[in-house]
Amino acid sequence: MKRKIVSALLCVSMIAVMLTGCGGGSSSSSEGGDTEQSEESGDGDSSDGELITVGFAQVGAESDWRTANSESMKETFSEANGYELIFDDAQQKQENQITAIRNFIQQEVDYIVLAPVTETGWDTVLQEAKDADIPVITVDRMVDVSDDSLFVSYVGGNFKLEGDKACEWLKAYADAKNISELNIAHIQGTIGASAQIGRTEGLEEAAKKYGWNIVAQQTGEFTQAKGQEVMESMLKQHDNINVVYCENDNEAFGAIDAIKAAGKTVGPDGDILVLSFDTVKAGIEMTMSGEIICNTECNPLHGPRVAELIQKLEAGEELEKIAYIDEGIFAYGSDVASVTIDGTEYEVTEVTQEVVDGRKY
Ligand code: AHR
Repeated sequence: MKRKIVSALLCVSMIAVMLTGCGGGSSSSSEGGDTEQSEESGDGDSSDGELITVGFAQVGAESDWRTANSESMKETFSEANGYELIFDDAQQKQENQITAIRNFIQQEVDYIVLAPVTETGWDTVLQEAKDADIPVITVDRMVDVSDDSLFVSYVGGNFKLEGDKACEWLKAYADAKNISELNIAHIQGTIGASAQIGRTEGLEEAAKKYGWNIVAQQTGEFTQAKGQEVMESMLKQHDNINVVYCENDNEAFGAIDAIKAAGKTVGPDGDILVLSFDTVKAGIEMTMSGEIICNTECNPLHGPRVAELIQKLEAGEELEKIAYIDEGIFAYGSDVASVTIDGTEYEVTEVTQEVVDGRKY
């Protein structure tokens, strides 16, 4: 937008100069003076007071996490904070996100922020953004591109680490409770999304390492409805499931409904242990009750983090290519105090009413 205003002011200046040239005579100096004045004030406005325009290509509205993420972005990129936000909900379709980015380029936004549905398929459109000189920040999920200069920075979770934390917690819990055989139903996120790739890798590695059985594996597309549908069908096919590894809270809500409808129970003393990711308010409440036995945090409040990156770019600073955020592990009870991954110890938080009350999303 700043770019557009500067161009518009330049056009006005040029027209004024042309008119001055054509008119001649006594009025020329005052018109020339006016033109200079408006150019000066235009420059000042565009660098000091003008809104920074941000085009945000959001995945969709598939989960509570996503809703909290959209709210965080909208709250941060407000006019009161000096931004104009163009928000696009892609309804979980990559082609919609590609169209949105092309629209942002046409509108000459100052920055493009992309939460990509899946990691691949971005080279062409991000090259178009680069050719238009518009910096692209990826948030929440990553892009897998052949040329890293197609995006300036990534800010969000480390999904492989999230998966590792959940699995190390499960290993320690199973040992503490003498559960010798784990038959795991795995409800995956949207296939090809960073959150799915990392969390799935974490589970598959741990299953191999610890001899766990993944008896069923299918996508729940990060939604409650699909999580329920997939769980129903898994329960019909396998009667030995004692763990469900859901790749987000909404899938867990659906899976728990399906488990209860099938006449089985969840929780520390039930038939099935449910693990999840996100820790949204409803998810953390179910962790306090044990219905979700362990919930690994994926923090959605990215608005201020992206704004900080934009402000650094405005100040001419270099950005870190990858900025992972700190995230916790939350569990029912205190059976597992911490987990260690690659030599780093991560504390596990027992979910109490205080923890639930302190949840911001
Ligand atoms: O990319 C983050 C994931 O996407 C969250 O775990 C999930 O809830 C969301 O839909």
